[in-house]
Amino acid sequence: MGRQFPFSSSILLQALIVVTISCCSFNIVVEGVIGVNWGRQTSHRLIPSTVVDLLLQNGIHHLKVFSVSDNVLEAFGGGDIAITVTLPNESLKNIMSSEAAERWLQHRIRRHRFNNINISSVYVGNQPFSTFYHTDTYNNAVDTLKYIQEAIYTNGFENIVATTAHFTDVLKPGIMKPSEADFRPDLKKRMVDFVSILNTSNAPFVMDIFPIHFVAQHKWDMEFCFLDNKSNFSIEDNGHVYTNVFEFVYDSFVVALTKAGAPNVRVMVGQIGWPTDGYPGANVSNAERFFREFIPFVKSTKGTPLRPGISIDAYIHSLVDENRGRINLGAFQRHWGVYLPNGKPKYKIDFSGGHRDMYPTTAKGVVFMPNRWCVFKGDKTNLTKVENQVRRACAEADCTSLLPGGSCSQLTFDQNVSYAFNRYFQMNSQYITNGAVVILRTWRPW
Ligand SMILES: *[C@@H]1O[C@H](CO)[C@@H](O)[C@H](O)[C@H]1NC(C)=O
Ligand SMILES: *[C@@H]1O[C@H](CO)[C@@H](O)[C@H](O)[C@H]1NC(C)=O
Ligand SMILES: *[C@@H]1O[C@H](CO)[C@@H](O)[C@H](O)[C@H]1NC(C)=O
Ligand SMILES: *[C@@H]1O[C@H](CO)[C@@H](O)[C@H](O)[C@H]1NC(C)=O
Ligand SMILES: *[C@@H]1O[C@H](CO)[C@@H](O)[C@H](O)[C@H]1NC(C)=O
Ligand SMILES: *[C@@H]1O[C@H](CO)[C@@H](O)[C@H](O)[C@H]1NC(C)=O
Ligand SMILES: *[C@@H]1O[C@H](CO)[C@@H](O)[C@H](O)[C@H]1NC(C)=O
Ligand SMILES: *[C@@H]1O[C@H](CO)[C@@H](O)[C@H](O)[C@H]1NC(C)=O
Repeated sequence: MGRQFPFSSSILLQALIVVTISCCSFNIVVEGVIGVNWGRQTSHRLIPSTVVDLLLQNGIHHLKVFSVSDNVLEAFGGGDIAITVTLPNESLKNIMSSEAAERWLQHRIRRHRFNNINISSVYVGNQPFSTFYHTDTYNNAVDTLKYIQEAIYTNGFENIVATTAHFTDVLKPGIMKPSEADFRPDLKKRMVDFVSILNTSNAPFVMDIFPIHFVAQHKWDMEFCFLDNKSNFSIEDNGHVYTNVFEFVYDSFVVALTKAGAPNVRVMVGQIGWPTDGYPGANVSNAERFFREFIPFVKSTKGTPLRPGISIDAYIHSLVDENRGRINLGAFQRHWGVYLPNGKPKYKIDFSGGHRDMYPTTAKGVVFMPNRWCVFKGDKTNLTKVENQVRRACAEADCTSLLPGGSCSQLTFDQNVSYAFNRYFQMNSQYITNGAVVILRTWRPW
C-alpha cells in the first residue's frame, strides 16, 4: 500500500521492541501447538467418544469446547487430550465473588480433574469484549477472571490457566501498520487490567483471527491471507515487511499489549480458520492452501517480525460445520469446519505440519440416515404459500449456501425450494409433516 505514516510516531515503540526481542531470545524454543475448536451448534452432533478417537487418529492433543458440558468432558477420561473449557458469556455475571468462583470451580472442574480429565485452561466467556458478536459487551469478564484465577490458586490447580479470547475488533479499527495498533479507546483501561492479571498468572493473551474477514474489511487483496508469499501486496513497518495478514494481526496485538504495559505476556491464537462457503473465496481449495502453509509456519518456531523465534500455539477453527451457528458476520460462519457434521473431511490438511498431501482421518462409527431427499413438486399455483414455507424451512435449517456468494447461489427458484425443504428434512432427521409441497426421493446412484 502506498500510504505513508509519520516516521516519528513510533520511536518509543521501536525501543520497546528491541527490549522485547533481546529479552525473549533467552527463552527455550518449543514447537508450536496445533489444537482444534469443537463448536456444537449443530442439529446433529458427533458423539464425544467419536471426537476423542478422531482427534487422536489425527495426532491432535489439544481441544477447546465452548461450554463445560459434563457429557462432553466425561469422554476425555484418558487425559491425553488437554481441554480448554469455556464459561459461557451469560454466566460471567454469576461469578462476581471469590465464593461464587470457588463454587464454580468445585462444581464444574474438580470432579473432572479427579477423573483424569485434563482440563488445562478455562476461558471466562468467549470474546466478551467483541462488539461484532454482542450488542452489550460483557464488562464483568475482568472481575470474573480475577476471581476464577484466585480460586484456581486456592484449590492448588496451578496447572490450569484462566484467560479468555478476543476478536480482532478489540483493536482500534482501521490500522494500516502494526505499529499503529492499540486497543479500542473505550476498552483500553479494561484491557490494561485484563492483561495485568494474565501477566501475573502467566496465562496467555488469546486472539481470534479470521483472515478472510480481516482482509475484506480492509479491502486488501485476498492473496495477503496466504502464507505462501505469493501476494504482491505487502506492508512495511519500521523495517519489518508483512507479507501476510496473520503476522500483521499477531504483531498488531503484540504492539497493543506493549502499549497496555505487558510487552512480554504470552500470546496465542484461539481461533483461526478458513470457511468453505458463504463468501467470495470461501472454498475448499483456498482452505487447503491456507492451512498448507499456516500449520508448518506455526510448527516452525519462525515467529513473527516482532517476536522472532517464539513458538505460536494456534487452535484451528473449527472441527465441524455448525448449521445452527450465528451468522451475524456472514453466511460463512456456518462453514468453518475442517469436517462436515457427519465426520467426513472437506479438504486435505496435515495437522502435523509436515506438508503431507492427505485428507485427515474420517470419523468412525457414524450412523448415517437413508439416502433420500426432498424435491419440490413444482406446484406454484399459490406462490405465497411456497415462499412462506421456504422461509419457515430456512428459519430453522441452514440455507446459507443459497445466499449471494454461496456455493448454491446460482440455483433456479424451483431448485431453491428443493434445497430449502431438503435441508429442513435432513435437519429433522428425515421426519416430515403432511401437506408439504415436496415429494420424497430415494437416492439410487446407479
Ligand atoms: C495435560 O495437558 C498439558 C498440556 O498439554 C500437558 O502438559 C500435561 O502433561 C497433560 N497432563 C496429563 C495428565 O496428561
Ligand atoms: C458468548 O459466546 C458464545 C460462544 O461460546 C457465542 O456464540 C455467543 O454469541 C456469545 N454470547 C452472546 C450473548 O453474544
Ligand atoms: C508484568 O510482569 C512483570 C514481571 O513479572 C512486571 O515487571 C510488570 O510490571 C508486569 N506488568 C503488568 C502490567 O502487570
Ligand atoms: C516474501 O517476498 C518478499 C518480496 O515480495 C521478500 O522480501 C521476502 O523475503 C519473502 N519472504 C519469504 C519468507 O519468502
Ligand atoms: C504480481 O505481479 C506480477 C507482475 O506485476 C503479476 O504478473 C502477477 O500476476 C501478480 N500476482 C498476483 C497474485 O497478483
Ligand atoms: C476458490 O476461490 C478462488 C478465488 O479466491 C478461485 O480462484 C478458485 O477457483 C475457487 N476454487 C473453487 C474450487 O471454487
Ligand atoms: C395462498 O397461501 C396463503 C398462505 O398459506 C393463504 O393465506 C392464501 O389464502 C392462499 N391463497 C389462495 C388463493 O389460495
Ligand atoms: C434463492 O434463494 C436465495 C436466498 O434466499 C435468494 O437470494 C435467491 O434470489 C433465490 N433465487 C431465486 C432464483 O429465486
